[in-house]
Amino acid sequence: MNSRREDFLKKYSLSDENFPVHIAVIMDGNGRWAKKRLMNRVKGHEKGADAIRGIVELSREIGLKYLSLYAFSTENWNRPKTEVSALMSLLERFIKNERSNFLENDIRLNAFGELEKLPDKVLKKLNALMDETRSNSTMCLNLCLSYGGRNDILHAVRKIAADVENKVISPDDISEETISANLYTKGFPDPDILIRTSGEMRLSNFMMWQLSYAELFFTNTLWPDFTREEFLDIIRQFQTRDRRFGKV
Ligand code: FPP
Repeated sequence: MNSRREDFLKKYSLSDENFPVHIAVIMDGNGRWAKKRLMNRVKGHEKGADAIRGIVELSREIGLKYLSLYAFSTENWNRPKTEVSALMSLLERFIKNERSNFLENDIRLNAFGELEKLPDKVLKKLNALMDETRSNSTMCLNLCLSYGGRNDILHAVRKIAADVENKVISPDDISEETISANLYTKGFPDPDILIRTSGEMRLSNFMMWQLSYAELFFTNTLWPDFTREEFLDIIRQFQTRDRRFGKV
């Protein structure tokens, strides 16, 4: 462990033992945050995008390897056009604003989901930054965009069915690993922790396969108000949980 990380762990009362590798977050409550302040929902999303920065910075400091954020679901396309387009503009701005941060701090950006549905100009910028950060390895930030857990599994099933049809594999050879290897998240470890903000207690079609053994944390805090302290507190709680993975 490098000494900087050791210092951070000490400062935040975290242990290197039982340290999570992958944390996934459903960033919920932007709309309610804005409503409470009689503001437009888009203001809530803007504040929500700002809240991401502190959590990414902290994650990197403490040596978290993978952080996955549910930023736009397959269902979110059904929101009013103005809100969808505001979210796309925010994504574009996020890519532009965070570029130097990712390059300076060795952060790799990935995106999971039906990316082809994103507006061309956003997709181009997203792909460019993913390419530019491809060899960064201190931390991976995964944005789930136009992402749905069922859709993820559906894609995987189609790919595996094509492999069977082309005699690349036989049905008997299909294992859990085959399915994992055909999901958008292929090559990434499953999340150890799922956090959902805003008091809702459901998965809302997020990483249905990958979250099988994740420890779940629900907080009433609305995403724009979610702080580094609360994130640390969840990791501390996680470190005290007994994960048995179905064993005794
Ligand atoms: C849920 O809040 C949040 C979303 C649908 C999108 C999350 C987006 C962000 C945090 C900002 C944009 C992100 C990037 C990467 C640019 P909600 O609108 O469902 O809130 P509500 O349930 O209170 O209405």
